[in-house]
Amino acid sequence: MAEFRLPKNSKVNRGKTWPSPDDKENIRKLEIYRWNPDDDKNPEIDTYYIDMDSCGPMVLDALIKIKSEIDPTLTFRRSCREGICGSCAMNIDGTNTLACLCGMDDIKGDIKVYPLPHTEVIKDLIPDLSHFYAQHAAIMPWLETETDRPETEWKQTIKDREKLDGLYECVMCACCSTSCPSYWWNSDSYMGPAALLNAYRWVIDSRDEARERRLDELEDPFKLYRCHTIMNCTKTCPKGLNPAKAISSLKQMMVERRG
Ligand code: SF4
Ligand code: SF4
Ligand code: FES
Repeated sequence: MAEFRLPKNSKVNRGKTWPSPDDKENIRKLEIYRWNPDDDKNPEIDTYYIDMDSCGPMVLDALIKIKSEIDPTLTFRRSCREGICGSCAMNIDGTNTLACLCGMDDIKGDIKVYPLPHTEVIKDLIPDLSHFYAQHAAIMPWLETETDRPETEWKQTIKDREKLDGLYECVMCACCSTSCPSYWWNSDSYMGPAALLNAYRWVIDSRDEARERRLDELEDPFKLYRCHTIMNCTKTCPKGLNPAKAISSLKQMMVERRG
């Protein structure tokens, strides 16, 4: 029988438990993934207790409180704290989401926080998204035109503009792609739901003049067709978007243009 050995550093150990504030009653417990590339240790889960009466309601508020008041070494990305920049994506209570949109009241029991799954971790809750962004760049996320530039803006009808609703709101957080089993196993060749949703956003933009070129690029056994409609992407999107539907519309367009 084949024997599988887990890679070095794959076992997650129990880490430090930080003291609980003893004179407070409204306490929540957070268990947070820690990994530091600068020591030779395996990843660990550290335990923190926070006083909810002096903390904002979101998981990001708790992380900021921990970093400011308890453990300054805790490392995570954040910027806007209102679901716009997409940088605070992580796995909270088993779901990929944005920490700034995730209310602690909605989580029962201890709050477990991990980096986005199946990503290389740079440190603690920070995943390396270089490949994810390179895939986004590959779909040409800009208006491609051949006709001369108009004197004012490129115009579009209200109806055509409405076709972009549910697509343009993507904040490139990577929650969908890192929840997709096809992406976990084939991210080197499969574009993943985030890049494909954005590809579709530009394909159907009435002002764009590179539709055929964009579709040609995706006509490939892996880039588009590795999607098996498992729907994890749509279930997890913290912005309520539907990448699975966008992917299926792209597939439909491929069929139609073959005639
Ligand atoms: S629907 Fe497609 S892209 Fe979305 S999770 Fe499933 S396989 Fe991945
Ligand atoms: S589709 Fe949703 S989950 Fe995916 S990158 Fe965009 S905002 Fe994030
Ligand atoms: S901090 Fe910007 S999306 Fe959460």
